Amino acid sequence: MKMEKKIGVPRHVAIIMDGNGRWAKARLMPRSMGHQHGLSRMMGLLEHAYDVGVEYVTVYALSTENLNRPKEELNGLYDLVRNRFLEGIRKICSKGVRLRVIGETELLPQDIQEIIRKAEEETAHFVGREVNVALAYGSRAEIVRAAKDVLAAGEELTEEAIARRLYTRGQPDPDLIIRTGKEKRLSNFLLYQGAYAELYFSDKMFPEFSDADLDEAFAEYARRTRRFGKTDEQL
Ligand code: IPE
Ligand code: IPE
Ligand code: MG
Repeated sequence: MKMEKKIGVPRHVAIIMDGNGRWAKARLMPRSMGHQHGLSRMMGLLEHAYDVGVEYVTVYALSTENLNRPKEELNGLYDLVRNRFLEGIRKICSKGVRLRVIGETELLPQDIQEIIRKAEEETAHFVGREVNVALAYGSRAEIVRAAKDVLAAGEELTEEAIARRLYTRGQPDPDLIIRTGKEKRLSNFLLYQGAYAELYFSDKMFPEFSDADLDEAFAEYARRTRRFGKTDEQL
């Protein structure tokens, strides 16, 4: 993987990978095929993102709300994690990327918790590039848990104290949040960390969101002015 960083490439990009089901439906395929293609695309995008110099990538793979989907769909998703996720993530991480799974992983089947633990352990020594895979993730629950932890430690409740207890502790906030699949909402994703993220929405369904589409999102990001509350003159 190349390490050189192009101008305007975000340091941390987060992706809401939406539209797998509709992509499949439009092709008269079962939703599970959409998830399969989505997982392959996720691996491709991760590789490309690190190639162009991104340091942190967070991908939204399963929300806590998604846990209420029909059993059949959920089991299909779990089978993907079992049979394809580990292999794919190993390949990406073998190039020096640290894996962090963020979310209420205790809500996932036991064997998947074990797969996650192993994969995280294998990559724990890598520094510089990281991937967060959000599984059974919900931002509100994350914030509440963090706040409770601060209070339980007898600390003062400050923005930094909360940030230090989020799943993303120690990482920079996302600079850019991309959502595929035509919807324009955050669906309980990185509400705290994304306070000043640039938002980018693509009409493409996730399985068809190409490396070139990611480049286009980065090009658009590079054209934005991030003011963080200041005036243009102050920048
Ligand atoms: C996103 O695709 C992936 C997951 C939530 C697991 P969807 O499954 O939400 O696809 P659509 O939105 O129904 O097309
Ligand atoms: C958001 O997609 C969650 C993921 C992509 C993992 P959803 O399909 O669950 O979002 P809503 O329900 O349309 O808001
Ligand atoms: Mg969806």
